[in-house]
Amino acid sequence: MYSRIIGTGSYLPAKTLTNYDLEKRVDTTHEWIFTRSGIVERHIAAENELTSDLALQASQRAIEAAGIAADDIDLIIVATTSPDQAFPSTACVLQDKLGIRNGGPAFDMQAVCGGFVYAMNTADMYIRAGQARTVLVVGAEVLSRMLDWEDRTTCVLFGDGAGAVILQASEQPGILASKLHADGRHRQMLKADPIISMDGQAVFKFAVKVLSDVVEELLEESNLSGADIDWLVPHQANIRIIEATAKKLGLGMEHVVLTVSRHGNTSAASIPLALDVAVRDGRIQAGQKILMEAVGGGFTWGAILIEW
Ligand code: UT7
Repeated sequence: MYSRIIGTGSYLPAKTLTNYDLEKRVDTTHEWIFTRSGIVERHIAAENELTSDLALQASQRAIEAAGIAADDIDLIIVATTSPDQAFPSTACVLQDKLGIRNGGPAFDMQAVCGGFVYAMNTADMYIRAGQARTVLVVGAEVLSRMLDWEDRTTCVLFGDGAGAVILQASEQPGILASKLHADGRHRQMLKADPIISMDGQAVFKFAVKVLSDVVEELLEESNLSGADIDWLVPHQANIRIIEATAKKLGLGMEHVVLTVSRHGNTSAASIPLALDVAVRDGRIQAGQKILMEAVGGGFTWGAILIEW
C-alpha cells in the first residue's frame, strides 16, 4: 500500500511586499536581499486573515483538484509554526471551516520549516498502517506576525502562504521513502519567543550539511542516485542553500522548482506551495520522481521521495 498525492492546492495572500518596499522600512537594499537570499518579494496576510483562512483556501483547491468531497478526508494534519492560537489546533479550526463532520482526527505538526516533510511522513504512516485512507496535509503560515519589522536580519526573509495536498491510499506507487531527523542541541540558532531570531550564518552552514546528508541517505536507501530525480522541490529559504543541495546531488538547476524569489521563506508552507506551482504549470508529470527536503528550527530536517 502506498500514499499517493491525488490533488494539490495553494494560496497566497493578495498583498505583496517587495525588497524596494523594505528599503523604506529598514537599512537594507534590494541588491543585498536578492544576492544573499534570492528573494524579490513576499506575500503578507491581511489583518483579518488567519493561518486557518490561508489553509482553508489552499485545502479547497486541493480538494477540487483531487475530485473528492471534503467529507472523504479522514485525517487532517496542519504543519504550522504560526497557529491561529495556542489551542485548539489550526487543524481542528480547518476541519470546521471545511464543514467536515465525520469525526476523523485532526492535529497540528510543529517542526517549523521541516513541518511539511514531518506531516507527510506521518500521514504516510497512518495510510500504510490502515488508520486513514484520505489525508489532507497542509503547510500554512502567517510568519509576518512573528517578525520584528525593525530587525533587517530577519524581516526581509519570510513570507505568508499555504499549500495543501490530498494523500490517498493506493496500490500504485506514491511516497517511496522518507527520512526525518532532529537535533535539539542547536535550538538556540533559530527560534521564536515569540519573535523570530536567527544566527543566519550558522543556520546556513548547518542547512547545507544536513540537507545534503539526508538526501544522500534517502537515495542510498532507495538504491537511486541524483540522476534518477526528475524534480527537486526543496524548502525555499535561500537560493544559495538550494543550489548547494542540487550541486551535491549532481542535479542541474533546470530540475529544481524555485519559488523563493516570489514567496520568500514561508516555512512549512514553502514545499506544498512550490509543488502546487509545478503541478499546475505542467512541469510535474505522471511517473516522475520528486524529491522534497527541508530543514528548520529545532533543528528538524528530513526528505521525501515520491513517484508521481
Ligand atoms: O528556513 C529555515 C532555515 N533558515 C535559513 O535557511 C536561513 C539561513 N541563512 C541565510 O539564508 C543567510 O545566512 C542570510 C540570508 C540570513 C544572511 O546571509 P549571509 O550571507 O549569511 O549574511 P551575514 O549574516 O553574514 O551578513 C553579512 C552582512 C553583515 O554585515 P557585516 O557584519 O558584514 O558588516 C550583516 O549585518 O550583511 C549585514 N546584513 C544586512 N545588510 C543589508 C544583515 N542583514 C542585512 C540586510 N540588509 N537585510
